[in-house]
Amino acid sequence: MYKRIILPILFRFDAETIHHTVSTFLKIALSIPGVSAICRRLFVLEDERLNRTVFGLSFPNPVGMAAGFDKNGELVSELSDLGFGFVEIGTVTPRPQPGNPRPRLFRLKIDLGLINRMGFNNKGVSPAAERLRHFNRNRGNRRVIVGGNIGKNKDTPNENALNDYLISFRELFDTVDYFVVNVSSPNTPGLRDLQEREPLTKLLTALEQENRQRPKAKPILLKIAPDLTNGQLDDIIAIVTETGIAGVIATNTTINRGNLTTDPAIINQIGAGGVSGQPLRTRATEVIRYLHQQSAGAFPIIGVGGIFSAQDAQEKLNAGASLVQVYTSFIYEGPGLVKKINQGLLKSI
Ligand code: FNR
Repeated sequence: MYKRIILPILFRFDAETIHHTVSTFLKIALSIPGVSAICRRLFVLEDERLNRTVFGLSFPNPVGMAAGFDKNGELVSELSDLGFGFVEIGTVTPRPQPGNPRPRLFRLKIDLGLINRMGFNNKGVSPAAERLRHFNRNRGNRRVIVGGNIGKNKDTPNENALNDYLISFRELFDTVDYFVVNVSSPNTPGLRDLQEREPLTKLLTALEQENRQRPKAKPILLKIAPDLTNGQLDDIIAIVTETGIAGVIATNTTINRGNLTTDPAIINQIGAGGVSGQPLRTRATEVIRYLHQQSAGAFPIIGVGGIFSAQDAQEKLNAGASLVQVYTSFIYEGPGLVKKINQGLLKSI
């Protein structure tokens, strides 16, 4: 029903407008008494065999919503009711920022992909922390795990980036279960330079130092781009080991346009941005496999990029991922996606 009736209607409108409309619809619909319970009955698959303990956290199932869908931490409860085992909010920056001019989100229908150059549009870390406190007070028996994905403001020079990450880290600390340091978005100029060995080591060392001053430290993960060379991935392995962070999320969107079937003229017209969805699948899996093999499984990996089915999720798990995340396929496949993936994973257990 979603793919045959709802999707063709949604796809007649601008992608970002629809994202906001659907989010608002979800919030309103699920606030009606009884609807949340109906959704949970329809979409949540509770089965002990899906439980995972990773980074010391207990996940009800291994399928999460990737960062960027719920930039401001406003949809955790709703996404939990649609079956997600974890939700990563953000990327949030210390101060609110509008992001790039619209349009900045484009569908590549025949590729089952998206191109986005959102540029960390978000309301700033404080409202996100407030929303999450509200969720935590009212979470009921929802066991969903919440991640906080943090980045720097566009106008913060890289020399001062650490300060931005520290502000968001401190502000979100009591509201999330794990953190993600995002240095891999292609849409904030210069951000990915922070993936280089020296600045990245400094950044993660300082964050871990701050983290370990707390009575109970939280897992800090690093989210990386799929466009890194094997040499750079070797550096990432060394940095994770050296700084003692908890793991890696692989991968963010790609700047590679090589394997798209959409007309190159259309791609050119769209302009800059990161590609997600099906075209990213194979490369993201390669990165996961490389990190897992070269590090001999030294740290957990969350696998993300082009997962549309249980088979795709299993591919990431077989490559060495402990958990998976989705974003683009949620748009194309609709609200039944997570249950479908979890049902498929159960069959292979
Ligand atoms: C993203 N992604 C993303 N990642 C991140 O770390 N911070 C962010 O703010 C965003 N924002 C964002 C917006 C949009 C519109 C998209 C499509 C993606 C990347 C996302 O979390 C994920 O890593 C990639 O999209 C690959 O997964 P999928 O979409 O192929 O399942």
